[in-house]
Formats: sequence, structure tokens, C-alpha cells
Amino acid sequence: MLNAKVRELLNTQINKEFYSAYLYLEFSNYFKEKNLDGFANWYMIQAQEERDHALLFYQYLQNNNEIVTLDAIDKPTTGFASHMDVLQAGLKHEIYVTSLINDIYAAAYEVKDFRTMQFLDWFVKEQGEEETNANDLIAKMELFGGDPKSLYMLNQELAARVYTAPSLVL
Ligand code: FEO
Repeated sequence: MLNAKVRELLNTQINKEFYSAYLYLEFSNYFKEKNLDGFANWYMIQAQEERDHALLFYQYLQNNNEIVTLDAIDKPTTGFASHMDVLQAGLKHEIYVTSLINDIYAAAYEVKDFRTMQFLDWFVKEQGEEETNANDLIAKMELFGGDPKSLYMLNQELAARVYTAPSLVL
């Protein structure tokens, strides 16, 4: 049995990760409408990764004989004013998710739940990568977003991203 607070936070995180997937699907949708298929591809893969994250929390709870409670997923943010607006929203969201992972870690630490801490280690590292990726995209957009030819090249670069399953296996 997991500590009640740790269990609740882990369960809530399933919803937060599915929301992340939903948000990135909306980002993908935004760029598809702008005919920037590379950006749309990049965020579609991001959405797939978030779905994977959700399923890892789901599976971790089940592996620990805990009951999973699924909740409604919020409508994603829409109506972005610019490409950069989308990218900034992505970074802001990842910083928020990092804070959620840290909160679960802190709750597990408090009750000496070393198993959950070990499970979360992967996510701590992943969040570092997620924030770096979001920052890199913003930096590239600042450099190249203003010029159509450069934006085309950046779009081509993002079109090359391929999905890989998470390295964490439960
Ligand atoms: Fe699942 Fe982007 O954090």
C-alpha cells in the first residue's frame, strides 16, 4: 500500500499527463493549420510521449495494487496569437509539470517511499530534457522565425523527429 497522499498525487498525475498530451495535440493542430507540418509532427510526437507518461503512472499504481481513478481531462488552451506564443506556452507548461513531479517526489521523500522516489527519478531527468527542448525551440524560433526561408528549414528539421517509446519499463 502506498501512502494516501503519494497515491493521490500519482493518480492526479495520470490526468495531468493526459492533459499534456491533449495540449500538445492542440499545438500540433495549430501548426497543421498554418501549413507547418514539421512543427505539427514535432508536437504530435510530444503528445505521444505525454500519453506514455500517463500510462507509466497508471501502470505504476496498478503494479502497487492501488486503485486508479480516472477523471475528466480539461479542454486545452487554444487561440494562440503567434507561433512563438505556442512555444512559450509549451515551456510554461513543462515548468509547471516539473513542479508537479517535484511535489510528488517531496511527498514520497517525507514518508521514506524509496520505491516511488526511484520510479520518479526517470521523470525528474525527463523533465530536465523537456524544459531544455522547449527552450531550444524558442531560441531557434527567435533566430530563424522571422525569415520565411529559415522558418522553412526549421520546419524541415522538426519534420525529422521520430517517436521512440520511453526508456522506462515497469
Ligand atoms: Fe510528461 Fe512533458 O511532461
